[in-house]
Amino acid sequence: PVADRVQDLLARMTVEEKVGQMLQLDARGDYADDILHKHVGSILHASPERLAHAHDLTAETRLRIPLLVGEDCIHGHSFFVGSTIFPTQLGMAASWDVDLVEQVARVTAREVATTGVHWTFSPVLCIARDLRWGRVDETFGEDPFLIGELASAMVRGYQGAGLDDPTAILATAKHFAGYSETQGGRDASEADISRRKLRSWFLPPFERVAREGCATFMLGYQTMDGVPITVNDWLLNDVLRGEWGYTGTLITDWDNVGRMVWEQKVQPDHAHAAAAAVQAGNDMVMTTPQFFAGALEAIESGLLAEAELDAAVSRILTLKFRLGLFEDPRRPDPEAQATVVGAAAHADLNLDVARRSLVLLRNSGVLPLAGGFDGVHGAAARAVDGGGVPAAGALRASGGDETPRRVAVVGPLADDHEAHLGDWAGNSGQADWLPEGHPRDMIVTILDGLRASAPVGWAVSHSRGADILDLVPDPAGETYPDGQPRPKIGVPVAPDEALIAEAVAAAEDADYVVAVVGDQIQLVGEGRSTATLELVGGQNALLDALAATGKPLVVVLLASKPLVLPPSAASADALLWVANPGMQGGQAIAEVLLGLTEPSGRLPISFARHAGQQPTYYNQIRGQHGDRYADLTQEPAFVFGEGLSYTMVEYADLRLDRETAAVGDTVRATVTLSNTGSRPARETVQLYVSDAVTSVSWAEKELKAYAQVDVAPGSSVEVTVDLAVADCTIVDAAGRRVVEPGRFEVLVGRSSRDADLLRAAFEVL
Ligand code: IFM
Repeated sequence: PVADRVQDLLARMTVEEKVGQMLQLDARGDYADDILHKHVGSILHASPERLAHAHDLTAETRLRIPLLVGEDCIHGHSFFVGSTIFPTQLGMAASWDVDLVEQVARVTAREVATTGVHWTFSPVLCIARDLRWGRVDETFGEDPFLIGELASAMVRGYQGAGLDDPTAILATAKHFAGYSETQGGRDASEADISRRKLRSWFLPPFERVAREGCATFMLGYQTMDGVPITVNDWLLNDVLRGEWGYTGTLITDWDNVGRMVWEQKVQPDHAHAAAAAVQAGNDMVMTTPQFFAGALEAIESGLLAEAELDAAVSRILTLKFRLGLFEDPRRPDPEAQATVVGAAAHADLNLDVARRSLVLLRNSGVLPLAGGFDGVHGAAARAVDGGGVPAAGALRASGGDETPRRVAVVGPLADDHEAHLGDWAGNSGQADWLPEGHPRDMIVTILDGLRASAPVGWAVSHSRGADILDLVPDPAGETYPDGQPRPKIGVPVAPDEALIAEAVAAAEDADYVVAVVGDQIQLVGEGRSTATLELVGGQNALLDALAATGKPLVVVLLASKPLVLPPSAASADALLWVANPGMQGGQAIAEVLLGLTEPSGRLPISFARHAGQQPTYYNQIRGQHGDRYADLTQEPAFVFGEGLSYTMVEYADLRLDRETAAVGDTVRATVTLSNTGSRPARETVQLYVSDAVTSVSWAEKELKAYAQVDVAPGSSVEVTVDLAVADCTIVDAAGRRVVEPGRFEVLVGRSSRDADLLRAAFEVL
């Protein structure tokens, strides 16, 4: 019946109404006239007031075709004040936890749906290889398999039981494809990439979610083989629609169609650009207002046939029917918002995912700082002062019989709300148009968390110690051409001796120093790639001065992406990377530092020693001679999959259930894990495959499966991980994905580092 309803409606639409349905406009600008007279099909970035107004205007149009409302709800509803903001995608990826990520997306969908948004532009399936890129934080990291697992979970969570479920929202797989492979890490720069390279690493996660029913795909900004992705017939039609049979809806990225005229200069005018975009299979055109006149002119002049337009409009109408918008336009529901948005249960989930996302990279034994959990939950923790409100499950340490300790919390980010939330979080870089950000008492900073959870009697002091950036007006102008205010830009500041002296005095007066350093929000995001990876501003000088005090130094790296640390931090007593940990992040971090919970995150991306090492991803093509620079090793500082616990887990006795296998078989790997320490561990048992000889060059090892298990202190467990032989593929010289017969090594262990992996082999006949 949906197909019949679409055909019926299409037959009654004028050509203007059809073109209007393909337009998605920025609701921060003037949209009223366009809705009334151009029948605009979709808006994004709408404040609650503008959203309500846009619906009212739509109801006045001739056919009253309901509005589709899109938004960047990336790790929570980025633009709705009071929403639950989770760790960034990269932070979540460090949990490697498929179920948790699915729950995050489900909760996000529930919150988002009450606000009248039907469509989130999430998840990001880009592979992050160049750490200078400003959007590394939006990815699931560097590995195609892990990205596929987590992206698939996220799509399931957003789309729920089906699109007619009122708590479901449309997911978007973006940015299709290869957008991250930019030159020099510069955002949206040329990303030329061979078809074989795309098929080898960049397409598999997209193929997976396409086949699993992700409702929409967003097309990247860049060109491939000289052809903008927006009109790339091979990628869109041969691969996506053809090979993968994708029947979902395609949306451009911001003004992709206009950019072909004014930026990439591959189309002479908007009529040609509109015709090319429709003919290539685009359905929704994001923020190219000129598309309306351009498409009409293209039809008038014969560049574009109305039937070609009909195919795109049908796909948009199909989405609207499947969402049930004709029966219920799903306007904002203030009553539901009151109970759903920012609900306490969502804060609990947020705390859980934040706990799982923390990666301990170094520990001389200084951590955990305090004794174990004594069962004092929420109420006691909430009673403490310090601003943020810990979630109900928050923990407080007892401190046991120990002497009360003094902790000096130092650093510019220890109490920085925006850095805890990360990009796309309402009050951060991408959303300066929001008058007010999220209520401060929804956000637990690291300082709040330590004050809330340190044992009674402990003293927690705070000093900034350094600044990072001065915010100044963008030299390009204080407003965009359309009059919207341009966010300020950051200029690194010099170390401030007085701030450092104050921090050193606090450190000298303390038993432990917790230094919270990283990147300020103006260094993160779209159009905000960085040339360097070092800590900016006075932070390196601060760390050097703190290290010189000789006090036990714990470095908490609150950084959107892997940064390069100075020797004083690299040799600190402990190092914890926390990404942008979300609203409950400070609580989760405090709990791990104090030993109330166990660190269990594993790196979804490698850390470089130097910006000049880019890229440092683990699954590089083998046999490259350049395995070291004349002046530096090519080894990363920390490798993919790495992360410590507060105990030691030994891996032993790897065995496979078969020595030979056919392509349709499953090989079962079994390994014994023994927790030889006195604290529990949650292990991520990683299984990599190394294809001994390949017809073309290939990665030495690739992650193919993993399992997560809890191992109690002093106990041993057997863990099995299944490997489908059909997944042991390479992409051959002709671009085909094949399993080549021969010897395969199975590598199982706690990280991708060779020294951490046990080996066994089987033969594919
Ligand atoms: O969804 C985003 C995309 O990731 C980058 N450009 C803007 C879009 C809409 O905000």
